[in-house]
Amino acid sequence: MKIIIDTPEAIARAAAQRYVELLGRKPDAVLGYATGSTPLGLYAELARLCKAGELSFARATTFNLDEYIGLDGTNDQSYRYFMDKNLFDLIDIPKENTNVPCGLDMTDEKAAEYDRRIEAAGGIDLQLLGIGNNGHIGFNEPGTPFGSITHTMHLTESTIQANSRFFASAADVPTSAVTMGIKTVMNARSILFIALGSVKAEIVKKMLCGPVTEEVPASVLQLHPDVEVYLDPAAAALL
Ligand code: F6R
Repeated sequence: MKIIIDTPEAIARAAAQRYVELLGRKPDAVLGYATGSTPLGLYAELARLCKAGELSFARATTFNLDEYIGLDGTNDQSYRYFMDKNLFDLIDIPKENTNVPCGLDMTDEKAAEYDRRIEAAGGIDLQLLGIGNNGHIGFNEPGTPFGSITHTMHLTESTIQANSRFFASAADVPTSAVTMGIKTVMNARSILFIALGSVKAEIVKKMLCGPVTEEVPASVLQLHPDVEVYLDPAAAALL
């Protein structure tokens, strides 16, 4: 595991260079993406590089980590909408190459199909991850089995509270989601992890320095052979 501590702006630039390197070497790479506030700087930088002609996603395929159950892609709180607005509409990727789990009529049987689609695409080359205040990756809340594949999940109260900042009120936050499982994430060949801000300091310490336990889902990354961890000084403050 490689740990890089830098400003959010420098992290966005350095992380974007991973995509320049990967897509330069493998233009049809399979990319795993995340939503939330953490990747916004990186997505802006990827869009800038693409517009400048330094990066092309024309042959790439993407798979997002998760989606709220009950929201369809036209809902402005859905993760499909977020990805279109913050990345896909700003780069040269064909929309049909982008995959976000469907939040409607979702069951665990249908969710498992997402893993088969990832496998059929050749597996994820580079998976981007953020971390929830409770240690979740994707929407894999504490206690999710490390062997899990894409599945549905009831969100914990702490996640609903944390994500309520994007909604009018906590009561508007969907209470369940579909998410890649921990095993799905661990199957990615490389992982690019970003945590920003003091609110993440405590959980980053547990993830990196604590025991590997299903109670801290992100701690499983200690077992992955190729992880780059990008932290700003505030998120790294307790290391
Ligand atoms: C979202 C996702 C989540 C977020 C996490 C942190 O697709 O995978 O695990 O990465 O909730 O969210 P932010 O970045 O908003 O702090």
